[in-house]
Amino acid sequence: MEKKKIAVLTGAGVSAESGFATFRDTGGLWEQYDVYDVASIEGWYRNRELVLKFYNDRRRQLKDAKPNSAHLAIAGLEKDYKVDVITQNVDNLHERAGSTRVLHLHGELTKVRPENGLYDSTYRTDEVIDIGFDEVNLGDMAPNGQQLRPHIVFFGEAVPNIEKAIDLVSAADILLIVGTSLQVYPAAGLYRYARNDTPIYIIDPKDVPVSDMRITHIREVATKGMEKFKEILANQ
Ligand code: OAD
Repeated sequence: MEKKKIAVLTGAGVSAESGFATFRDTGGLWEQYDVYDVASIEGWYRNRELVLKFYNDRRRQLKDAKPNSAHLAIAGLEKDYKVDVITQNVDNLHERAGSTRVLHLHGELTKVRPENGLYDSTYRTDEVIDIGFDEVNLGDMAPNGQQLRPHIVFFGEAVPNIEKAIDLVSAADILLIVGTSLQVYPAAGLYRYARNDTPIYIIDPKDVPVSDMRITHIREVATKGMEKFKEILANQ
């Protein structure tokens, strides 16, 4: 028999218990930094050094971080289900936990690419370079002679993987959403593409800004919430 399909949409909350601050919670990154300085295309052209430093710091932090039991539980679902992870996170903790199909909506910390023209969000995938946990600084050039930039979707840029994500959510038999405030579009609207008969589970310790007959809110942190989610699956 074919395995049932689970699409898992994750946000910063799934990595919180690995020691990463979320963005919008108290003490979150957007309290310490102005999002438009470090994560927008305008910010990049205003002060590339600052943006490179911000992502160098995040990359260094990622080197020492470990997947937590929520990442591991999501990877473990692959035993019985066809699982596609759609993540807004730029860390690689899902991959390191063993998830084999991970679609990054907002880019990846361990990759860089040439900056290409102003406001140009299209890029050639063959120009993306894996730098692991290394730093990138002003003056570090790509083979084509352009400044290297983080392989991150900045605010003000298109989200190239959104169409693939829509297809995955539309095809899912179960949709699981973990640790996202559902404030940032287009990712926040993805759940609307779930089929009418697809149950939607949201794991988040706080209130969620959406209501829909299909939604079950598991009001827990990601690690505990994943245990509950697995119990729900086992009892189906
Ligand atoms: P947010 O910081 O907006 O939301 C984090 C969510 O995780 C909130 O709903 C929290 O309640 C929840 N949360 C906190 N701790 C948790 C835990 N231990 N377990 C489970 N949930 C927990 O982060 P995102 O929704 O991921 O984009 O933010 C979306 C995008 O905005 C990010 O990808 C980033 C940011 O600006 C870019 O930088 C392009």
